[in-house]
Amino acid sequence: MSAAEYSVRGAVAAISFNNPPMNTLAHPLRAAVRGHLQKAIDDPAVAAIVLIGGGRAFSAGAEIREFGTPATLASPTLRELIAAMEASPKPVVAAIHGFAMGGGLELALGCHYRVASRGARLALPEVKLGLLPGAGGTQRLSRAIGVERALQAIVSGDPVKAETATGTPLVDELIEGDLLEGAVAFARKIAAEGRPLRKLRDLQAEVDNADTFFAEARKRIAKEYRGYPAPAKCVDAVEAAVRLPFDEGVKSERRLFEELVATPESKALRHAFFGERAVAKIPDVPEDTPTREIRGAAVIGAGTMGSGIAMVFANAGIPVKLLEMNRGALDKGLAAIRKNYAGSVARGRLAQDEMDRRLARISPALAYEDIRDAGIAVEAVFEDMRVKKEVFASLDRAMKKGAILATNTSTLDVDEIAAATSRPEAVIGTHFFSPANVMRLLEVVRGAKTSKEVLATAMKLAKTLGKLGVVSGVCDGFIGNRILNAYKRQANFLLDEGALPQAVDKALEDFGFAMGPFAVSDLAGNDIGWAVRKRQRAAQPGFAYSRIPDRICELGRFGQKTGAGFYRYEPGSRTPIPDPAVQELIEDYRNEIGIRPRAVGDKEIVERCLFAMANEGARILEEGIALRAVDIDMVYLAGYGFPRYRGGPMFHADSLGLRNVLAAMEKYSNGYHGECWRVAPLLAKLAAQDKTFN
Ligand SMILES: NC(=O)c1ccc[n+]([C@@H]2O[C@H](COP(=O)([O-])OP(=O)(O)OC[C@H]3O[C@@H](n4cnc5c(N)ncnc54)[C@H](O)[C@@H]3O)[C@@H](O)[C@H]2O)c1
Repeated sequence: MSAAEYSVRGAVAAISFNNPPMNTLAHPLRAAVRGHLQKAIDDPAVAAIVLIGGGRAFSAGAEIREFGTPATLASPTLRELIAAMEASPKPVVAAIHGFAMGGGLELALGCHYRVASRGARLALPEVKLGLLPGAGGTQRLSRAIGVERALQAIVSGDPVKAETATGTPLVDELIEGDLLEGAVAFARKIAAEGRPLRKLRDLQAEVDNADTFFAEARKRIAKEYRGYPAPAKCVDAVEAAVRLPFDEGVKSERRLFEELVATPESKALRHAFFGERAVAKIPDVPEDTPTREIRGAAVIGAGTMGSGIAMVFANAGIPVKLLEMNRGALDKGLAAIRKNYAGSVARGRLAQDEMDRRLARISPALAYEDIRDAGIAVEAVFEDMRVKKEVFASLDRAMKKGAILATNTSTLDVDEIAAATSRPEAVIGTHFFSPANVMRLLEVVRGAKTSKEVLATAMKLAKTLGKLGVVSGVCDGFIGNRILNAYKRQANFLLDEGALPQAVDKALEDFGFAMGPFAVSDLAGNDIGWAVRKRQRAAQPGFAYSRIPDRICELGRFGQKTGAGFYRYEPGSRTPIPDPAVQELIEDYRNEIGIRPRAVGDKEIVERCLFAMANEGARILEEGIALRAVDIDMVYLAGYGFPRYRGGPMFHADSLGLRNVLAAMEKYSNGYHGECWRVAPLLAKLAAQDKTFN
């Protein structure tokens, strides 16, 4: 079957894309469309041409898998195809439904007219991959909907709805009813009226006070998209549309595109794009593994996490029962949920009736027999093995056959929890991140006995819940927190040696983290880590660590909630203010352990924190805890505020070159607590072979 089909309806030829599911503009499609276009041009009985997408949408744009392969350059290239459309002596009408994205929209912009179905979305989302539209999109869109709107659409990558663009040259007519029929009628009409072949290239891209407009846009964008190179280049491209003749503007756009393709940031963003798809694949669990349908859920414990998790189910349309030990705790949890939803309503992010519907899906429960019919129970009680075992024994007795028994534990052994039941194959970890209803990451922890069916169901459920599910094996901290501990350990050692919390945070924020480790710790509550450390130290007596965080906690400085932590906070404010008392505490500690402080530079701060992550990540790979390096990267992008344009800790190490990473680690192994820099054999091996994790 051809990648595009051709049919003639009276005097109108229709070319229909046939490259499911997204009609990406892969070479076979481009070639077929080019052939059909010629046929229509050559046929004297054809007066006008309609271009339409078969299936769900017009086109999702370029086939990203062709990037960097000869197929991208094979004739006709997208740019050649667009030029051919524009040069057609017969009017070409693009008929858009679903969405026209990226190259798909650029192709439509090369047509003389565009019609669209209600609800169709038109977008140039290249910026999300660190790129900009490279086939005339910036030049034509600026001419079609005005510079201000075009800039907003190109810099954000967000779609423009067909309805809102109707009446501009972007959408000439909104079609009600059958799109092909409507488009054919429209094409017939313009041919009959002898309307000119309107080319967007011939229009003017105009904006008042261009100098001020672009200067302000640059200022705003530099702040909003710190670290991302593409948005600023989008401004350059749109400015070229205003200031240069069309052909010059297109050249300028092309140059900017080529510059961006080569940036590490764009490579990282593409890694993230593919990574999010890759993590769904589990090598030993085939895609056709049967999954169970989850029609109802139960959550045990209505504390911070339990109430958030209940909201996650309710938001996804799944009825959920929330079980607590007593009425008081239950009411507290339900009140927190109501308050959270009401906040969203007050901010205009949620409609009142939607809040009501969501709340109605959450029902209280005080006894296990009330939840027995749920397809999954997610336990979120205290982080205490004894309590967890009791809860799982109760779940085992109460839950119907086939139910999944999940734990939200952050640090406890999922296999030991599973052993408290008679059905360890039904037990799995679903590690949500706080706030559960906001954070996208879900670590799906596969126990030694978890069945493939249960694992596949949990991964599918993650998607239903709007989460990015990443599989982790069982170990202390799983993928995310285990690596975080390695990162924080170095951050703390840097304090021992001479840095202050604000310097460490600043260096890592400059690297791209939304917040540095000490500001994060103050936000999350320093007491949480304190409790975990106590347990870990009992388990690993020789483990080297800085006592500074403990000293901070011993003063009751638990972070924002107590008004002080590694920083101090003014009442009602979340802004960290460096605190001389903390500096004094750190200096006292240095004296006590006999350290003469030295100046610690930003480069060292970033390298030590980041390379410690990559090294721990390598161990996690060796142990089979993570399936692939990309899984580790996705955990960090979706759950830990790692800058997306750096691609994740493993990708970042790859992009520096593992040989360089190794050399730096060897240097640090001669410094303070050098024993922490024992190189993971996998990292050493890959570096020696000039290979990468990803
Ligand atoms: N807080 C976080 O950031 C976070 C993040 C990820 C995972 N976790 C994990 O989630 C779990 C819950 O953490 P949290 O912060 O929500 O704790 P929390 O103390 O806020 O809530 C625990 C709730 O469980 C209830 N509970 C205790 N025993 C119970 C029982 N036998 N039956 C029913 N309810 C019971 C308590 O009344 C309380 O409301 C822990 O395992 C924790 O490690 C926490």
